[in-house]
Amino acid sequence: MNILILGGGGREHALAWAIAQNPKCDQLFCAPGNAGIAQVADCVNINPEDGDAVVDFCADESISFVVIGPEAPLAAGVADTLRAAGILTFGPSAAAAQLEVSKNFTKEICDACGADTAAYAHFTELEAAKTYVREQGAPIVIKADGLAAGKGVVVAMDLETALTALDDMFGGSFGEAGAEVVIEEFMEGEEASFFVLSDGENVLPMGTAQDHKRAFDGDQGPNTGGMGAYSPAPVMTAEITEKALNETIIPTIKEMAKRGTPFQGVLYAGFMIKDGQPRLVEYNVRFGDPECQALMIRLGAQVLDALLACAEGNLADARINWADDHALSVVYAADGYPGAYEKGTEIAGLEGLDDGSKLHVFHAGTAAKDGKTLATGGRVLAITARGDTLKQAHAKAYATIEKIDWPEGFYRTDIGYRAL
Ligand code: AMP
Ligand code: GLY
Repeated sequence: MNILILGGGGREHALAWAIAQNPKCDQLFCAPGNAGIAQVADCVNINPEDGDAVVDFCADESISFVVIGPEAPLAAGVADTLRAAGILTFGPSAAAAQLEVSKNFTKEICDACGADTAAYAHFTELEAAKTYVREQGAPIVIKADGLAAGKGVVVAMDLETALTALDDMFGGSFGEAGAEVVIEEFMEGEEASFFVLSDGENVLPMGTAQDHKRAFDGDQGPNTGGMGAYSPAPVMTAEITEKALNETIIPTIKEMAKRGTPFQGVLYAGFMIKDGQPRLVEYNVRFGDPECQALMIRLGAQVLDALLACAEGNLADARINWADDHALSVVYAADGYPGAYEKGTEIAGLEGLDDGSKLHVFHAGTAAKDGKTLATGGRVLAITARGDTLKQAHAKAYATIEKIDWPEGFYRTDIGYRAL
């Protein structure tokens, strides 16, 4: 079959790498893709958020399966447009994507299905929000309701920070996303992510991971989209994983179905774990980046079968074959990220690094020009390795990153430290 992936980051490169290995995949396309993805797929210049353009392309190239990577096309209803055109699609409807698009929606779902999460209140007016924050005291968590590219959350350790965050959000610093605000109880514990496919009814776990959000070593510096990740997450023991499934994820899937908006795609659940209890921090409706890179190098070609079963509503019969392995992904970012950074700098030394199924340099923000690889984004590469132990994966990833010659880039040297 011919397959189209929407998106152009490290997550989509990892998806493309895994899908291309499956014999069911004839021709693979990616829109818009990047220089790394171009090594395994035909990159096409269509806007992934323009559903009609995507449908036209699918007709022209006889595409029979579309995999949607990022949240923006999902929020824009591209999965709905594709399904209405009769095209098999991996990714939730716009209605089901509300689980990521609106934090208040997720809180309401948790209330309705009894999932354990932080206590919260929802506000549309600044003064009422401030009164509530003063009553509750710090620490407290302030969240812009809508999509804010991972930047709409302020974990306030003191009252002043919380009140300033409210002024900023209601003052428009996140645009429409901040017009509504969710205020949450501060949860302590260790965070981990759990990835589960659902066809609307059945669920299939795809693995656990932990990421590093801060830019610099020792979890210092500004928040980013993620500077590295590893899988599995040791804190997600079999017992906690069962609890997360039975007390949060399955009830959520049932509640979404009951409302007539079944969730079909990958549900990425962030949990805070303390004293053996997982509590939901948030949902995303897509794979994490760079968590996806660590998951894909562990799963390989079977990913396509799982994504197809998910889209076809056949997850009840689907299985994942797990190797007892570990993966780790280190992000190489442009100096200055997550703030302003230079574009167009040259990356050398990328040849000959990839090593079958154990090591792959996934591209997140690159372009090819005159035979050179140029950095075009903030997060640029994700060096991802797999091993029998996390230590092996760690050693392999870091030995590889040292061979890459990119003076204008930086990476964290301590990815995975909590688990090592
Ligand atoms: P979110 O975008 O909702 O995942 O929030 C970003 C980060 O803020 C999370 O990964 C947590 O580290 C932190 N966070 C969010 N909500 C809470 C909470 N209720 N208590 C403690 N930390 C939180
Ligand atoms: N790495 C975090 C995310 O993809 O949202």
